[in-house]
Amino acid sequence: MPIRALVFDAYGTLFDVHSVIDLCEQLYPGKGEKLSLVWRAKQLEYTWLRSLMAEYEDFQRITEMALRYACKSLGQPCDTEVRDTLMNAYLRLAPYPEAKGALGRLSGMPLAILSNGSPGMLNPVVKNNGLEDTFAHVISVDEVKIYKPSPRVYELAPKKLGVPKEAIGFVSSNYWDAVGAKAFGFQVFWINRTGAVPDELGRSPEAILNSLAELAALVGR
Ligand code: LAC
Repeated sequence: MPIRALVFDAYGTLFDVHSVIDLCEQLYPGKGEKLSLVWRAKQLEYTWLRSLMAEYEDFQRITEMALRYACKSLGQPCDTEVRDTLMNAYLRLAPYPEAKGALGRLSGMPLAILSNGSPGMLNPVVKNNGLEDTFAHVISVDEVKIYKPSPRVYELAPKKLGVPKEAIGFVSSNYWDAVGAKAFGFQVFWINRTGAVPDELGRSPEAILNSLAELAALVGR
C-alpha cells in the first residue's frame, strides 16, 4: 500500500541523544562518553520497567532518574546544578546532520513525531531546532501513560493523522521500537547509522537505511 504519512521516533532517530557527550565530558572529565551511554541505556530500561509495573512516570522524570543512576554508577556526584544543566541540554539536543535536509525533501507529505518524550521535552527540542513547522503532529506517549513498544502508543498515530496504519511509514533508529511499530501494523524503516545487529524479536522492518537521507526516494519523493 502506498505510504500516505510518515511518523518519526524522536530521540536517537531525529535528535542525537549523545550530542550531550561534550557537556558530560566538561562536567565529568574522562567520563563523558560513558556517562552518556549509561544515561541513555538506563533511560530506556526504566521506560520498559515502569510500563511493566503499570506505574507511569513521565519521560522528564525517567530521564532525570536515569541520570542520577548513571552518575552514581560512575561514582560521581549529581548535584542539582549539574542535573539541571544536563536536563536542559536535552531540550537542545542536536539533530543528526542529515535530518533537516531529509525532512525538507519530504514536505508535502504529512509528518509526525511519536515519542516517549513528554510534551515539555519534545516541544522545546523541536522548536529549538527550528522544526516547529515541519510536523503536523508532535505526539507524546503521555496521552496514554505507557511507553513504547506498547501498541497503545502506536495507535495514537493513525488516530491523530486520520490515516490507516497500513499506509503509515514509521521511522526509527531504535530497533526495538521499529519491531514494536511493525508488530502494530505500520510499514517500518529502520535507520541503522552504526551498523548495529538486528535484535532477534521475530519481525523485520520493510527496509534498512543508512540514514534519513535515503527515505525520500523510498517513499517516491
Ligand atoms: C523516543 C525514544 C525511543 O523518542 O527515544 O520515543
